[in-house]
Amino acid sequence: MNETMIDRLIRHQSWLDPWGALLQRAVGGAYSALRAPGRVLKDVAHGSRGLGHPLHPALSDVPLGAWFVGVVADIVALADHAFPTQAGDLALAVGLVVGLAALATGLTDHHETYGHELRVATAHGSLMVVVMAVMFASLLLRWFAGIGFHGLAVALAICGLLLALAGAYLGGHLSFGIGTAVNRNAFGEGPDEYLPVGRPEDFPEGQARAVPVAGLAVLIVRRQGRLFGISDTCSHAGGPLHEGELKGDVVICPWHGSRFCIRDGGVRRGPATFGQPVFEVREEGGLVEVRRARVLD
Ligand code: FES
Repeated sequence: MNETMIDRLIRHQSWLDPWGALLQRAVGGAYSALRAPGRVLKDVAHGSRGLGHPLHPALSDVPLGAWFVGVVADIVALADHAFPTQAGDLALAVGLVVGLAALATGLTDHHETYGHELRVATAHGSLMVVVMAVMFASLLLRWFAGIGFHGLAVALAICGLLLALAGAYLGGHLSFGIGTAVNRNAFGEGPDEYLPVGRPEDFPEGQARAVPVAGLAVLIVRRQGRLFGISDTCSHAGGPLHEGELKGDVVICPWHGSRFCIRDGGVRRGPATFGQPVFEVREEGGLVEVRRARVLD
C-alpha cells in the first residue's frame, strides 16, 4: 500500500508513543475510578449508548464552525467599527465550551486505539489541545486586557483556526484514511439464500463458533436449543468475536471488550457504536444453514 505523506511523517514521530500511552492510562484510570457510572459515561462519550453512532465527529464540527464564524466576525469588526466586537468573542466562547466536550469524547475514542492509529490520534488530539489553549488565550485577552489588545486577540484566533483546520485534517485522516471508528461490517452483506455451514451437532449448546459464509465470518451460538448468528467481525475495529467470552446472550469482544447481544446484534457496551449484522440460521435436512437476515420495510 502506498503510504500518504502524513502517515510517513507521523510514523517517524516515536515521541508520540509515551505521550499517547500516558493519555490512555489517564483516561482509562479516570473512567475506572468512577466504577459503574464511569462505564455508562464512557459508553455515552463513545456514542455507544444514546446516540448509536460515534459522538466525537458530530461534536467536533461545532467548535470548527463557531471559530470560523468568530474569525469572520472579528475581521468585519476590525474593518467596520460599528460592528460589535462581542460577536467574535461570543462565537469563540461557544467554540471553546463545545470544544471541551469534543475533547472529552475524542480522548475517550483515543483510549481504544493502538499502533499507527494511536500515533495519528495522539497527534490529532495534541494539536486540538494546543488549539483550545490558543483560543482560550485569545478569549482572556478580549475579556481582561482591554480593547488595545483586541488586534492581538484576533491574530491569536486566526492562528488557532488555522491550527484547528490542520487538526481536523488529521481527524479526517484517522477515519477516512486509516479507518478508525469505521463500521467494520459496512461492506459485507451476506447471502440472500440459505447456505449450509455444518451439521447440528457442530453447534453444541452454549458454545460460540465462527463459520465462513460467502466470504464473511458468521458467529453461530446455540442458546436454549435455538441457533443465532451475527457477524463474527467486531464492528469497532474488527476483533474476532469467536475468541471472546460468551455470557448468556452476550458475546464480549476479546480486543476492547465491546459487548453484543447474539439475538439482535445490538451493542450492550462500547467502545463499539454500531451493532453487528444479524443472520438467520435454520436446521433443515440434517444441515445448519445461514443467510442474511431480511430487513423488514
Ligand atoms: S475490536 Fe474493539 S471492541 Fe471489538
